[in-house]
Amino acid sequence: MTISDTAALIRARAGDAPVDVGLILGSGLGHLAHAVEGVAIPYADLPGFPHVGVSGHNPHLHVGVLEGVRVAVFGAREHYYENGNSAAMRPALSVLKELGAKRLILTNAAGSLRSDIRPGDLMLLSDHINYSGLNPLIGEKTDARFVPMTEAHSPVLRAALKAAAAAEELPLPDGVYCWYSGPSFETPAEIRMLKLLGGDAVGMSTVPEVILARFLGLEVAAISTITNMAAGLSDEQISHEHTKAMAPLGAAKLERILRQFLRGLR
Ligand code: HPA
Repeated sequence: MTISDTAALIRARAGDAPVDVGLILGSGLGHLAHAVEGVAIPYADLPGFPHVGVSGHNPHLHVGVLEGVRVAVFGAREHYYENGNSAAMRPALSVLKELGAKRLILTNAAGSLRSDIRPGDLMLLSDHINYSGLNPLIGEKTDARFVPMTEAHSPVLRAALKAAAAAEELPLPDGVYCWYSGPSFETPAEIRMLKLLGGDAVGMSTVPEVILARFLGLEVAAISTITNMAAGLSDEQISHEHTKAMAPLGAAKLERILRQFLRGLR
């Protein structure tokens, strides 16, 4: 099965209208997927799509209309830490491109390094630090692998997301996201280091997808939902249970911003 075969399979179920926007939903942020008016296709039916095993994720591709815009919403992602494959989302994102998408919005759960960005808050990624040393384009043989990352986080999409947040009267501060591979959380010493390096939040996803999106020529932007203060910055225990329990706090705000953003595209 090729990328275009998988895209054809999706069109057969979801209709031929091209997709405008792709959305990847992070831990505990899956609610929005169910608002899509269209079809929900299990990843298991889609060759090349990841076999996702992280609890709190919904492994379906929802294709249809949300706020009048044709979308493809990924209810789950494969993280590097699951199988050691940083390019795990490459086939799925290639299919998204094949379906006609021009832009991709990524969401994630993250720990904050900043005292003014608290659990339940959102942060718009102005940039990122790939602290993993990994890259999903390693092994790519063409010169297309040399992807410029200077404005990887699209200024146009970021401005549109900021405007959507302002219209909803919700704060959406900018920040730099650091990718740590996981699955263990960071140590307090690592968090102090990331702060020195200019990081504002830390998480285990998103960066490989930003790189893949730029490789594929998709405009991309990402929003973090802050579920906790990063290790050593508060007394609370950090755990996946805690992440899942806290994500809905930010998820409601995130949903308002994303819906407003989509309305702005009509
Ligand atoms: N570190 C890494 N990933 C995360 C965190 C964190 O503190 N919180 C949610 N995802």
